[in-house]
Amino acid sequence: MGRIRVLSDQVANQIAAGEVVDRPASVVKELLENALDAGANRIRIEVEAGGRKLIRIADDGHGMNRDDALLAFERHATSKLRTADELLSISTLGFRGEALPSIASVARVSLDTASDDEPSGTHLEIAGGKIHHVDDAALPRGTTISVSDLFFNTPARRKFLRAESTELSHVAALVTHYALAHPEKHFELISASHSLVTAPPVSRPAERIYQIFGKDTLAQLLPVAAETQLDRSGLPEPPPWKRDPDQPPRTPGALRLSGFYSKPELQKLNRNSIYIFVNKRLIRDRLLLHAISEAYRNIIPPTSYPVVLLFLDMPPEEVDVNVHPAKTEVRFRQQSLIHDFVRDSLRNALIAARPVAGFKAALESSPAATPSLIPIPGSRLPGSPGESPAEGIPDQPASTEAEPFRLTPRPLTPLPGKLPFDERELAVQFEQQSLRQAAAALLEAPPPAHDNCSPDALDPLPPPQEAAAQIEAEQAAITLNQLGSLRPMGQLRDSFILAAGEDGLWIIDQHVAHERVLFERILRDRRVEHIQRQRLLMPLLVELKPWQMVIFAQIAEELERNGFEVEPFGPQTLAVKAAPVGLEGASLERMLNEVIDQSSEASREPSLNEDLTALRTRIAASIACHSAIKINTPLDPKRMEWLLLELAKTEHPTSCPHGRPIALLYSWKDIQRAFHRI
Ligand SMILES: Nc1ncnc2c1ncn2[C@@H]1O[C@H](COP(=O)(O)OP(=O)(O)O)[C@@H](O)[C@H]1O
Ligand SMILES: [Mg+2]
Repeated sequence: MGRIRVLSDQVANQIAAGEVVDRPASVVKELLENALDAGANRIRIEVEAGGRKLIRIADDGHGMNRDDALLAFERHATSKLRTADELLSISTLGFRGEALPSIASVARVSLDTASDDEPSGTHLEIAGGKIHHVDDAALPRGTTISVSDLFFNTPARRKFLRAESTELSHVAALVTHYALAHPEKHFELISASHSLVTAPPVSRPAERIYQIFGKDTLAQLLPVAAETQLDRSGLPEPPPWKRDPDQPPRTPGALRLSGFYSKPELQKLNRNSIYIFVNKRLIRDRLLLHAISEAYRNIIPPTSYPVVLLFLDMPPEEVDVNVHPAKTEVRFRQQSLIHDFVRDSLRNALIAARPVAGFKAALESSPAATPSLIPIPGSRLPGSPGESPAEGIPDQPASTEAEPFRLTPRPLTPLPGKLPFDERELAVQFEQQSLRQAAAALLEAPPPAHDNCSPDALDPLPPPQEAAAQIEAEQAAITLNQLGSLRPMGQLRDSFILAAGEDGLWIIDQHVAHERVLFERILRDRRVEHIQRQRLLMPLLVELKPWQMVIFAQIAEELERNGFEVEPFGPQTLAVKAAPVGLEGASLERMLNEVIDQSSEASREPSLNEDLTALRTRIAASIACHSAIKINTPLDPKRMEWLLLELAKTEHPTSCPHGRPIALLYSWKDIQRAFHRI
């Protein structure tokens, strides 16, 4: 007898489940995507014990008729794809027909569904891949799927599950992602009778961010929107029935970008607060992460990451989503065009917005002090040593496991103080309150100060629409363009310039301000090959170690183009005969050592594949740093004025090339508030 046997469906499904379903959050992902594909407007997710015991998702989508309900659990049964050609232009989130059979092979599943096709709905029960029960049921249109006892028949997998709170945090992160991508839909996440996410429909993404993360986060984000044209050569127009009836018709080949990015003052230790959605699908993509880092290069430190929510919208033919079973990785047809478009759109938005850093925000947003936007196990305990930048999507299993966060939604009891009379008003307030609690729990931040005890605790929060609009207006009002019109009043300890302006009191770090001015000038001059150099009266002799000599040889040409004239003077000594203007003596020597050391580090990092631009930027940053006005240097008023004017003219007056803030504003509003005048 031969050795080869065809696997039974149940075994095949369990193998597929290994790829698609590895934890409760992945079940939630698949079911959520199905609900969205079914056109649902309202989705309610309930979990018990972090989803190990129960996951129930109810939607008001188009539902299924009896035949479809039975078919849905067959392997490769899908209503979303018919021919392989269509794979090239998928506009639904699912298409593999694997999720339901995979989930049903490793859990007990019950399905309640009703569509407009049939008078009666269907109730179905499946365990370990076998249908146990089918019945008629009177149901409203839509689908509810309950998944209980996940991995009850695969103990090995069950062992890999983490603490309930860890699993719950993954589920919460996931629901948050989808809620962000679909502000026009109603999302609810409930765990053990407590509401963790309550997001009624809103009309703009900014309002959704406000609903989910709250006022402070929204105030640190800036909007971005851009559009470009993709190259359409070689692509047929998609057939008309593929178009999504809910979406406005696309211009053929349009690549649209919209979203939010953080001010440079907000810095994170890892990429967990970067969300990238392509056609409303959350993806993880190295290329786009790289584009985002590039946009922030020399604005935030290379070891920090911004908060970015990016929505890219493009014709489905432009992106292959069928490269990963969980569909979190994609491949773009026009990779470099998309990369550059994302980088340039973000960079231009940053240049145009010139956001001002406030005192409080700058204090709170040193990377170590800020948690990620979403709780991620093992990667976000402030100060924990094992903090490794998780790649892309936060809901991937993290390598190190730690208790991620305490979910502390409390049962909602009436608060002391004046009680509103209208029951409806009360309900609204409690809903808003629970949102804040959930957001606080999600962010692991202490609940807002006026949560419980201050007298205005019961003043209703403004609705998201108003609140978001107000925050956006406040942000747009103050920009660093004002720098040029400030009145410098003096220095603090000969190191910080104090200046008065319409918007409040400014403090400017004189060293980093000058550094930014010089940095941009050096890069500009270098681009047009017009470097200002000075000949030294006496050559400066710099001693190097042998390995430093090797690195020096590699970067000598670029140094020369930056105004250096250096010749070897014996085996381990360099003679510097000319240098960029402003750089002399000990500073010059330190600068050379610094650039050589940084270059040797960069060359040790094999993945970095240093390019010339990076080297050029590093040299410019180093020259700027070592020739800029130092702290503890008295400046006369003319010089201060000049510095502020020059700073106002730079592209990025927000931060120095190493990412430190340059100017902080103590706003007029905060000053008045602190003196109890408002
Ligand atoms: N919530 C739902 N509402 C309506 N139809 C659904 C729902 N969930 C699943 N289905 C149907 O079941 C089919 C199989 O689902 P699934 O196994 O997730 O595969 P896929 O989503 O890749 O098609 C879907 O194609 C869809 O027709
Ligand atoms: Mg699916």
